[in-house]
Amino acid sequence: MKKIIIRGGNKLNGNIHIEGMKNAALPIIFASVLVGEKCFIENIPDVNDINISLEILRNIGADIKFPKKNCIEIDTSNVVPCSSPYDLVSKMRGSTYLLGAELGRFGVSKVGWPGGCDFGTRPIDQHIKGFEALGATVVAEGGYINASVVKNETDSGEVYSKNGLHGARVFLDVASVGATINVILAATLADGVTVIENAAREPHIVDLAGFLNTCGADIMGAGTSVIKIRGVDKLHGCQYKIIPDMIEAGTYMTAVAATGGCVSIQSVIPKHLETITAKLREMGVSVTEYEDSITVESDGNLKPVTVKTLPYPGFPTDMHPQFTVLLCLADGVGQITENVWDNRYRYVDELHMMGAVISVDGRTATVVGNGHLKGAPVKSVDLRAGAALVIAGLAADGVTEISKTETIERGYHNLVGKLRLLGADISKMQ
Ligand code: EPU
Repeated sequence: MKKIIIRGGNKLNGNIHIEGMKNAALPIIFASVLVGEKCFIENIPDVNDINISLEILRNIGADIKFPKKNCIEIDTSNVVPCSSPYDLVSKMRGSTYLLGAELGRFGVSKVGWPGGCDFGTRPIDQHIKGFEALGATVVAEGGYINASVVKNETDSGEVYSKNGLHGARVFLDVASVGATINVILAATLADGVTVIENAAREPHIVDLAGFLNTCGADIMGAGTSVIKIRGVDKLHGCQYKIIPDMIEAGTYMTAVAATGGCVSIQSVIPKHLETITAKLREMGVSVTEYEDSITVESDGNLKPVTVKTLPYPGFPTDMHPQFTVLLCLADGVGQITENVWDNRYRYVDELHMMGAVISVDGRTATVVGNGHLKGAPVKSVDLRAGAALVIAGLAADGVTEISKTETIERGYHNLVGKLRLLGADISKMQ
């Protein structure tokens, strides 16, 4: 079990570079299966979820090289659909994208039930609804999801596209990121036009559409709630650069707000950070936006606020635990309401160990901020909760020892090294 040890109290100062976005890189890596040729993808973050997804693709025959730092060359010409090992895919959520990608290229896929952070139930009914609308049959049994196209011909005997799928209108009951991505993957090479209504609007959806369109797909409307995919016969290889990770950037913004100091956060798209920036300003933090960087300056004095998580462009759920820490450090009573996940509050008990006063009632946590936290032994229960505990430790009096920090490595590259460069007293223990 990996640990992080922090002696709190140091202000953060300096410059920091943001990596490519994990949640954009994941679907784009899986989308390369549809291409069947060589793609060069730049700005790939070196984090564990990405390494697992590359392993999953190698397992089905992809040839993957690393021509330079943060760049992969991925050739999927020899990929064959085969049952992907449960122990690999159950490590992360993004593995569900293999279903859409294999179904979209071959008309068949068998994938172990996906893992990922535990936020209560994580259904995939909307993914399945989309696949079925496009003509696939989906059966979940024995820990695996089997998807295949049952019918290769129309009633009049006409053969559908190579994968057997046909365009359809898909209305998502929830604006699910994963379901939107999977339907795009399945529909890109399908016969005819697919329209996704109530689609997720996250920047990573736009990035996936950008990648596929660069490969010759015909996808319109990504970034809005109606996405139209006109199926094409074939895609071709391309070169593509992943967008910066808004959640990594938001995490460092929050860290500076918590400790005080002044940090220039570079290689970001300030527009993607708007809701985080607005909330920090409400709390009394100064945020200055430049073309592709932002500067965050804080004296550590924070005003309490009310935060409500929502799908993009609302306040991101993946910034929720980090903001709860800020509310603990604020002067007065704040509230956070989680509107995306059923059960994202497992980290609250850990913050209680650090002296936080938080009461959770249903989806809402009320936080009595008193300006400080105390160092304590705590454990990281999931990726963003772990990042939140690091922020709490940076701002706390005394020493914080965080265990199970492998959860943090799933989505943050070199968090400890980057924070040390900014002046934090933080180290890793294997
Ligand atoms: N939902 C359904 N049915 C479905 C799919 C989702 O009811 O078929 C519900 C979920 O239960 C949840 C809501 O819809 O209440 C949103 O789920 P969504 O499908 O949007 O989430 P996801 O695709 O599983 C991605 C990110 C998460 C992030 C969420 C929300 C990836 C790999 N994961 O998950 O990121 O929290 O979107 O923005 O992109 C993280 O990076 O730390 C992380 C957990």
